[in-house]
Amino acid sequence: MAEVTNVTEYQAIAKEKLPKMVYDYYASGAEDQWTLEENRNAFSRILFRPRILIDVSKIDMTTTILGFKLSMPIMIAPTAMQKMAHPEGEYATARAASAAGTIMTLSSWATSSVEEVASTGPGIRFFQLYVYKDRNVVAQLVRRAERAGFKAIALTVDTPRLGRREADIKNRFTLPPFLTLKNFEGLDLGKMDEANDSGLASYVAGQIDRTLSWKDVKWLQTITSMPILVKGVITAEDTRLAIQAGAAGIIVSNHGARQLDYVPATISALEEVVKAAQGRVPVFLDGGVRRGTDVFKALALGASGIFIGRPVVFSLAAEGEAGVRKVLQMLRDEFELTMALSGCTSLREITRDHIVTEWDRPRALPGPRL
Ligand code: FNR
Repeated sequence: MAEVTNVTEYQAIAKEKLPKMVYDYYASGAEDQWTLEENRNAFSRILFRPRILIDVSKIDMTTTILGFKLSMPIMIAPTAMQKMAHPEGEYATARAASAAGTIMTLSSWATSSVEEVASTGPGIRFFQLYVYKDRNVVAQLVRRAERAGFKAIALTVDTPRLGRREADIKNRFTLPPFLTLKNFEGLDLGKMDEANDSGLASYVAGQIDRTLSWKDVKWLQTITSMPILVKGVITAEDTRLAIQAGAAGIIVSNHGARQLDYVPATISALEEVVKAAQGRVPVFLDGGVRRGTDVFKALALGASGIFIGRPVVFSLAAEGEAGVRKVLQMLRDEFELTMALSGCTSLREITRDHIVTEWDRPRALPGPRL
């Protein structure tokens, strides 16, 4: 096999290796998958305005997120059921993240429990929360995550119902019987029944609380001292409401284009959210980040960091922990090179003027920015 030289190449390898039902679940977006393509395409319409003749012999990519020191602003998004990709699943991801000096977000629907992931060793980890109808289940789970040393909750707010993912419907997607949603094992919610369409869609319809609203963001703060990141915001309006409701940060996300189709790419929505946040809380982004240049563009538009989803499950399928390590390393190297070639030696030096977007005014006339 030829050497893997970029993150995207893992997708084809995963496709070869995985059962169709599993690959399709990981790869798919909702309905027409317009947003899925747009999450990538929108990055390609943002161009650089690099600065030259700056000493870039030393590049510092370190950052502090919610008070935690990271080696780089590249983190791991929650993706469900990683043991379908590789027997070590979330353990491998946790080890790779920790080795890279960055954060792993564990999905509520992981095939390893919060305690099991904590047992892999030290590491800064966030816990992604789906709010179940049964609030005792939620309260218990949050308490367990906190006790297991997780540092923040990423509250997913874009999934009152599951998006229509047609491949999952055709494949009658369900969690393979040898696996369980480990966090829910003892609560009798760890198995997924087969259904006449997507087993996951049925599971969500049965268990997830469609009444979830801003008051619940406040309720969560009464049951935990962990900071809450609201994951799935793509408008200025909701940014302001999230901050009012006590969010410690915002993740601009369209769930990897798996929920509402025809929402904009996250990189297109980012600046609106950043402006509405007015620096009161950090803003993060996920969706379609596959290159170091993408990371730079997100930071130039005001993100404090980014998260990657599919690259983790695809590299996990291809090479287990080594694959996830390599993905993080390749993105790191590319990001460092982008900084050097743009004339930035630290994250602070990355500015809005280092990029030009299609919504910027034409730069034909000399203006204050030039
Ligand atoms: C996800 N995502 C997700 N989000 C979440 O809050 N809880 C979850 O359990 C999952 N599970 C999940 C599974 C798979 C296979 C995918 C692809 C995505 C969404 C995820 O956190 C993130 O928002 C996107 O994956 C980011 O987009 P990219 O990097 O996959 O393009």
